[in-house]
Amino acid sequence: MTTLHPGDVDLRCSVAGVELPNPLMTASGCAAAGRELHQFVDVSSLGAVVTKSVMEAPRSGRGTPRMAETPSGMLNSIGLQGPGIEGFLEHDLPWLRAVGARTVLSIAGVSVAEYAQLARRLRRVLGIVMVEVNISCPNVEDRGQVFACDPGAAAAVIGAVRAELRPEVRVLAKLSPDVTDVVAVARSVVAAGADGLTMINTMLGMAIDTDTMRPVLAGTTGGLSGPAIRPVAVRCVYQVRAALPQVPIVGVGGVRSGRDALELMLAGADAIQLGTVLFHDPNAPVRIADELRAELATRGVSKLADVVGHAHRLGVT
Ligand code: FUM
Repeated sequence: MTTLHPGDVDLRCSVAGVELPNPLMTASGCAAAGRELHQFVDVSSLGAVVTKSVMEAPRSGRGTPRMAETPSGMLNSIGLQGPGIEGFLEHDLPWLRAVGARTVLSIAGVSVAEYAQLARRLRRVLGIVMVEVNISCPNVEDRGQVFACDPGAAAAVIGAVRAELRPEVRVLAKLSPDVTDVVAVARSVVAAGADGLTMINTMLGMAIDTDTMRPVLAGTTGGLSGPAIRPVAVRCVYQVRAALPQVPIVGVGGVRSGRDALELMLAGADAIQLGTVLFHDPNAPVRIADELRAELATRGVSKLADVVGHAHRLGVT
């Protein structure tokens, strides 16, 4: 194996036909619509900015406390706070376009009709390269709203969104790890029209303060993220890549280094989202891109695409 110079490594990638200069995106909910992060890193240099999930109406979210530290991770219980679709289109999208960011709009709803309505609103909107359909937020009023926990409900949402969007706008379905068979859900949303999958959203968790003897989060339960869940993300990506090798996957879950990103790509992710790491290292997209280049260079790999799914190629070096 010949070691390359990191500068010779090509990090360009493609997700469902959308070309990106590098595979590193923000994870939804971890950088709002990019403004705050832009103080630390030029968001136009990222593969894409994935927005916080936008719903039809503005929403204040759950009560506080909304976040709790856990060993190797974090719980959040935000409750889909956001400006609503009109607020996003008026204030956030123009800014993202002005700074030259590739924008992936995350949308969320409480019913199939709300998702469809959001997608319909986007029909004449330019400047969004993909729509990520968040069907897996754990912080909703009842588990019946976690559409990604049921293959049929997940397909109903994705089918409705696909039917309303312009055909060239790619649809990513964001899946939950809190299911028995993630492959069944993946198959179902792909059959309904998803162009790709984002895996994984947070896992439902909970923390109790042993002094107050009460739940730490005002919302009682929350979504667990960070390095603690990375092996679960690797497993989900690997299983779905094995079952659906042609379906683009965006891997997310506890990535904090170039090596972590590489692990998810070896499992089958075409691109990577960064979430929890941004809270303590907003420069992470730049640092991790450099680390990923170095990891590939030491392995003699000149093109990122060559390592995607490599862990499946048993017996091939
Ligand atoms: O509570 C929240 O806003 C989290 C959303 C998500 O994890 O999808």
